[in-house]
Amino acid sequence: MNTADQQISTSVLVIGTGGAGLRAAIELAERGVDVLALGKRPRSDAHTSLAAGGINAALATMDPEDTWQQHAADTLAESYLLANPVTVRIVTENAARGIDDLERYGMPFAREADGRISQRFFGAHTYRRTAFAGDYTGLEIQRTLINRAVQLKVPILDTVYVTRILVHDNTVFGAYGFDVETGHRYVIHADAVILAAGGHTRIWRRTSSRRDENTGDSFRLALLAGGKIRDPELVQFHPSGLIEPENAAGTLVSEAARGEGGQLRNALGERFMARYDPERMELSTRDRVALAAYTEIKEGRGTTNGGVWLDVSQLPRETIMRRLPRVYQTLLELQMLDITQQPIEIAPTAHYSMGGVWVRPEDHGTGVEGLYAIGEAASGLHGANRLGGNSLIELLVFGRIVGEEAAKYSTGRQVQRRSAEALGEARAEVDGLLDADGPENVRALQRAVRDTMTNHAGVVRDEAGLLAGLSELESIEARGQQVGVHPDLAGFQDLAHAFDLKSSLLSARATVEAALERRETRGCHNRSDYPDLDESLQVNLVWSGPGQLEREEIPPIPEELSRLMRHVSSIGKLVE
Ligand code: FUM
Repeated sequence: MNTADQQISTSVLVIGTGGAGLRAAIELAERGVDVLALGKRPRSDAHTSLAAGGINAALATMDPEDTWQQHAADTLAESYLLANPVTVRIVTENAARGIDDLERYGMPFAREADGRISQRFFGAHTYRRTAFAGDYTGLEIQRTLINRAVQLKVPILDTVYVTRILVHDNTVFGAYGFDVETGHRYVIHADAVILAAGGHTRIWRRTSSRRDENTGDSFRLALLAGGKIRDPELVQFHPSGLIEPENAAGTLVSEAARGEGGQLRNALGERFMARYDPERMELSTRDRVALAAYTEIKEGRGTTNGGVWLDVSQLPRETIMRRLPRVYQTLLELQMLDITQQPIEIAPTAHYSMGGVWVRPEDHGTGVEGLYAIGEAASGLHGANRLGGNSLIELLVFGRIVGEEAAKYSTGRQVQRRSAEALGEARAEVDGLLDADGPENVRALQRAVRDTMTNHAGVVRDEAGLLAGLSELESIEARGQQVGVHPDLAGFQDLAHAFDLKSSLLSARATVEAALERRETRGCHNRSDYPDLDESLQVNLVWSGPGQLEREEIPPIPEELSRLMRHVSSIGKLVE
């Protein structure tokens, strides 16, 4: 045994300290189960905080007709029938309980004068069912969960980069990683591992993810452990990302801005949504609004910077200050722009991985014994188009359920088999990178991946572009064998970036291969060479490594829900 590795033991290891990871850790701690949460970024700054505008549950506080069944029907219809109905039922039926949990932990929801939780409209919901805290909802949820985890004394180490999940004979026995500040190595022995390390949207140039997050770590960790990836090509481009400044390109302007009455205009001053979804206009679904903005820009009706305008200046100043404070502050901070007076220049930004690690709908087990995935790392709820506000409720619901499942699994373990070989491989991988002194720069290669994905696998795709993207990825993979990794006095970030690159390359390849296979236009996935929806592709695509894609049938939608589903027309979708 290498004495340089610090050994830690816990019953359940949670990888990721965003909302999903914390909610699972809280469930375990409340049940008296030993848990450890690890993250590579500060817990106070998780991507969860970017889901700004709200969290969905059919509480019926504003619209008494609302029901969980209608929430489920909206989610299924807007997923273009790729969401798993079982997953959708579990989330929507348990959503009110998720809100109760948050209230119990002290979440400061916005309320009506009589004390009811306020709910606002978000795109494509039949009723007002998005509860919120200004446009800081995700941030407040993250703070609330951190406070609860602290009360329960959950140990959280948020400078640890997990490089491998340790598996013996298709059964998890822990994880391996290093401290990004000190380089200190850890072997963590655990009965069960919950993967909550986010998605892969940082592999596009304009993205709402910050520098070192959502680099596809969950995909790589799950795949190397023996898991699979479902629907990696289904990536949500949020319509409103900032264009400037360059170093903050993609920063999110919350959908709450449209929910409160913000209007979209092109450079000619036209409210262009009238061309794409005249009924729902700015409250159409994200895929449609993003595609509409993209099309306006592509066809020459965009601004000189390549954007369109989002205008809230016609709203009462008081509404902006009370319900959109973050958008107000962000624009002042980044552009010195007063949104009560001037429109915001925006363009689509890669925001959310709707696919993710393959999981069973009921317990989010990955098929590898003792390994679970939740939150943005997982798949099943969103299909080809996510309703804004559904990701936050998903993490509350499945954080609790998977915490409970992992607790049961751990308690039921009689013995744990380990593998010296698996541990040796994990250790050798880190040693190898620390010895690497080649000419290629890891950050430059990351940039190359982002350029490739932006140029060839963005809002609109086609076969020629995707094939060109694949060949560029192959050449970046080859250059990736020649990297130099140089930790310095400041820390081991360079090593972390080298692992980020591995994960990004793997998730980019998964995305492009699945995007090639999905020869149709459906939701967020626009193929200009296949502009129609193909009913034979009403399946999930499951990727288990380069060149290995399978089609997976989706269970039927129960009658109780299908009769509530409104038809989602695809007319005018791909206007190009
Ligand atoms: O626009 C937003 O506030 C994002 C919400 C979400 O991603 O759920």
